[in-house]
Amino acid sequence: MPSSREQLEEKLRELRDRRRKVYEGGGAARIERQHKSGKMTARERLNVLLDPGSFVEIDAFVTHRARDFGMDKVEAPGEGVVTGYGLIDGRAVGVAAQDFTVIGGSLGEMHASKIVKVMDLCAKVGIPFVSLNDSGGARIQEGVDALKGYGDIFFRNVQYSGVIPQISVIMGPCAGGAVYSPALTDFVFMVKGTANMFITGPQVIKAVTGEDVSVEDLGGALIHSQVSGVAHFVADDEKRCLEMVRALLSYLPSNNQEDPPYVTPSDDPGRIEPGLSDVVPVDPNKPYDMYALIEPIVDRGTFFEVSRNYAPNIITGFARFNGHVVGIVASQPLEKAGCLDINASDKASRFVRFCDAFNIPLVTFADVPGYLPGVDQEYGGIIRHGAKLLYAYSEATVPKVTVIVRKAYGGAYIAMCSRHLGADMVFALPTAEIAVMGPEGAANIIFRDEIAKAPDPEAARQAKVKEFREVFANPYVAASRGYVDDVIEPEELRPKIIGALELCRTKSESRPVKKHGNMPV
Ligand code: HXC
Repeated sequence: MPSSREQLEEKLRELRDRRRKVYEGGGAARIERQHKSGKMTARERLNVLLDPGSFVEIDAFVTHRARDFGMDKVEAPGEGVVTGYGLIDGRAVGVAAQDFTVIGGSLGEMHASKIVKVMDLCAKVGIPFVSLNDSGGARIQEGVDALKGYGDIFFRNVQYSGVIPQISVIMGPCAGGAVYSPALTDFVFMVKGTANMFITGPQVIKAVTGEDVSVEDLGGALIHSQVSGVAHFVADDEKRCLEMVRALLSYLPSNNQEDPPYVTPSDDPGRIEPGLSDVVPVDPNKPYDMYALIEPIVDRGTFFEVSRNYAPNIITGFARFNGHVVGIVASQPLEKAGCLDINASDKASRFVRFCDAFNIPLVTFADVPGYLPGVDQEYGGIIRHGAKLLYAYSEATVPKVTVIVRKAYGGAYIAMCSRHLGADMVFALPTAEIAVMGPEGAANIIFRDEIAKAPDPEAARQAKVKEFREVFANPYVAASRGYVDDVIEPEELRPKIIGALELCRTKSESRPVKKHGNMPV
């Protein structure tokens, strides 16, 4: 009879053996294949994502219980997903990292139950959930049990939307219905060259529509960041991608009951920027780069852009003002003259709703000649997509500070967080033009007959354009009604915005009681 010490040692040996097996994942050959394809293993990724030594694994010993198609003989260490929690910059996050070396990271019943458990944990304790996706999709041998698993995840993605930040990082294949978990989360990252997302792959598309397309051209990182807008961030490699996830989280609160993390500022809140007076041309037809206005105003080096490559006619991103996080939405006159179109409305409204859900004040810079004209836009539903931005800003109760930089015409003036949608403080620069439409269009319509009858119609038209510009194309009519709180000089933008944000820190606003609204989608 072995002594109790020997019995304990035997049990410890068993524990260590079992754990070693789990750590080995799909084994050396599959790990080598993973590395050869430019990918890290799930555990290597977690080591880069989390603060060193902070990862705590849960459910390492979960096993599947599938029996069909030979699955009774298949061992799946860790069930193809590593789950647990750890720290990012000292703050807790929950994680699930799919392990492609184990049955292609495919998602079966127990794989899903591990993910679901960590999601529930994140929601209970109020911490972000980060999912590292690298999977062949539903584990085919498990049939409806795998589908159930996806359904359980989607359900939680929705329940916890607006409760905890949810981030998806696509680091390999993500196909079929599997794409809908990332789509339901707040931010999607993709790695160039190795990540892809699609509902139906190239072969099915070829069979059904006859179109020939490669995996990369169909659902690679560039396509989703530039064309579909599915991916908010693209990274050149996995390490950079995981560092970007860490950077994003530094701007986000852990849950909807907290304020975003404050960082003691090293930048003077009263900093005057004389160079700003040269950024915005007085000529309304001259483009300029809105980044040249944003970057000098925010705390130095804090602007972190979201969806940079998608709908570049509107800029969205996080930044800090005097150490406090804000969400920035800004027209970009360099692209489509800063017009709002379907994609810009979609991008900005989702960003506004994220900020509102997580107590992040909004700072909006408007230089918008209107909604983009065109048959494509009308057929594509600019009416309902454009309405999203009105909805999102009107719904938002976080502090809202707006700067009308130059053009603010028509419905787009209202949509870019005007006073009428609940802006708490509206500043205009002296270059602002706030009107139903631009002077050219306006003069052509309201003085059409007069211009036509004039001895020199072109001279008459010019005179009317000038007259309209003098009367309406300035900030003072709006200021005279109180729609603009103050007309300020460009160089004082930073202190003025910071002052308004400080004032609004204690803002409290409610909305009528309802189950939920019905945002146009
Ligand atoms: C079971 C799978 C699997 C899956 C991959 N594997 N996907 N096993 N179910 N869905 C296994 C492979 O058999 C292989 O096992 C190992 O994982 C690695 O896969 P490879 O094919 O060798 O890797 P690679 O060449 O890199 O190709 C990766 C791949 C390919 C492109 C993802 O595996 C593939 O096309 N898989 C099927 C994708 C798919 O159709 N999934 C279902 C989507 S529909 P061995 O033992 O040989 O190493 C879906 C519905 C969800 O997901 C609905 C939710 C609502």
